[in-house]
Amino acid sequence: MKIKSLGLDGVRSVEWNEEKNWLTLIDQRLIPFEVKFNDYTNVEDICGAIQTMVVRGAPAIGATAAYATALAIKEIENIPVCDKKAKLEEKLDLIQATRPTAVDLKNYSFLVYQAALETNFSFDETLLAAKRLSNQTLEECRLIREKGVEIIEDGNTILTHCNAGPLATVDYGTALGPIINAHNQGKNVHVFVDETRPKLQGAKITGWELEQEGISHQIISDSAAAFLMSKGKIDKVILGADRCLKDGTISNKIGTYSVAIAANYHKVPFYSAFPWSTVDLESESIEDFKIEFRDENEVKYVKSKEGDVLVANPGSDALNPAFDITPPELITGYITSKGVLNQEELMNEINKK
Ligand code: MRU
Repeated sequence: MKIKSLGLDGVRSVEWNEEKNWLTLIDQRLIPFEVKFNDYTNVEDICGAIQTMVVRGAPAIGATAAYATALAIKEIENIPVCDKKAKLEEKLDLIQATRPTAVDLKNYSFLVYQAALETNFSFDETLLAAKRLSNQTLEECRLIREKGVEIIEDGNTILTHCNAGPLATVDYGTALGPIINAHNQGKNVHVFVDETRPKLQGAKITGWELEQEGISHQIISDSAAAFLMSKGKIDKVILGADRCLKDGTISNKIGTYSVAIAANYHKVPFYSAFPWSTVDLESESIEDFKIEFRDENEVKYVKSKEGDVLVANPGSDALNPAFDITPPELITGYITSKGVLNQEELMNEINKK
C-alpha cells in the first residue's frame, strides 16, 4: 500500500473522513512493518497520537492539531456560551503542549482557534478552517517538490536526515519532495539516509518511502555521514525543519547540527526545506522556544518488528533531546514554495508575513 502522492489507494497520512466525521491517521510507528490506519474522534486521543508519534513530522502534526482544535468545538457544544472560550483555550493548551518544538502545530491550532472565535464556535466553519490549512500545507509541499528540483543534478548523491517525506507532511514531502521529483524527471540520484537515532525515522520511514518510489538509497548510521563527506561521496544535504526563526536559524531533528557542521567543513551544500507554517514569527532568539526532551527509554530501547528491544545497559540513565539548532551561517539555502532562497531572500519573505 502506498500513500496518495506515491501513487496508490488515494490515502494521505492525515485525512479527515467526511462520512464519519473523524480523523484518520496512518500509524507511522508501524512503518515499514505494517500500514495501518487509526481513526480519532476526540481531542484527548489525538493528543495521545501526536505525543506517541502515531503521527509525526512538523507539517503532519500541524494539520492534525488543526483538526484536533476543530474537534474541540464538538466537545464544548453543550457548555454555556460564556464558558466556551475558556474551555476551548484549555483544550488548545493541551494540544499545543503535545510537541513543543515543531511550530506548525502551534501555528495551525492557533489559526483554527481564531476561526472558532470568529464564527461563534461553529463546528462546521471551524472544521472548514482546519481543512483549508491542511490543503494549504499540502499545496506548499507540492510547490516545494516542484521548485526544489532545480538544485538536484543528474548523478547527485544526497544525504538526508530523519524523515521529511510524504508521511511527515500530509503528502508530497518537504526534503524528499524535490528528490522524488528529480527521480521522476529521469535524473539519477542516490540517497544516503541517516538512520536517525533514537527513533530511527530515517532507517524506517525514509527508507520505506524511497523504496516505494524506486529511488536508489542506502541507510547509514548517523556517525557515517561525516566520513562519507570526507571521501567526497555526498554532493548535497537536504533535510526538513521543525521550526525556522526570522533570521533563518532552524531547529530540526537531533543530529541535524552535526550534519551541518560536517557539511560546512567539507564544503557540501546544505539545504533545509519547509512550508511557511514552520516559520516562528514570535521568537526573537533560540532562548525563546523549547527544545523537546523525550523519554529516556527511546534511547535505551529500539522498536523492532517483534516489539521493544533493550539495546543499552539497563542500569544507565539516558538523555534524549529530540531536536537541535542549526544557525543560518551553516545553511546554503532554504527550499520553500517560493523557490530556493538564500538567507536574505528568506528573511525578506518572512518580513512580508
Ligand atoms: O520527531 P519527529 O519525527 O516528528 O521529527 C521530524 C523531523 O525532525 C523532520 O525532519 C521534520 O519534521 C521535518 S518536516 C517534514
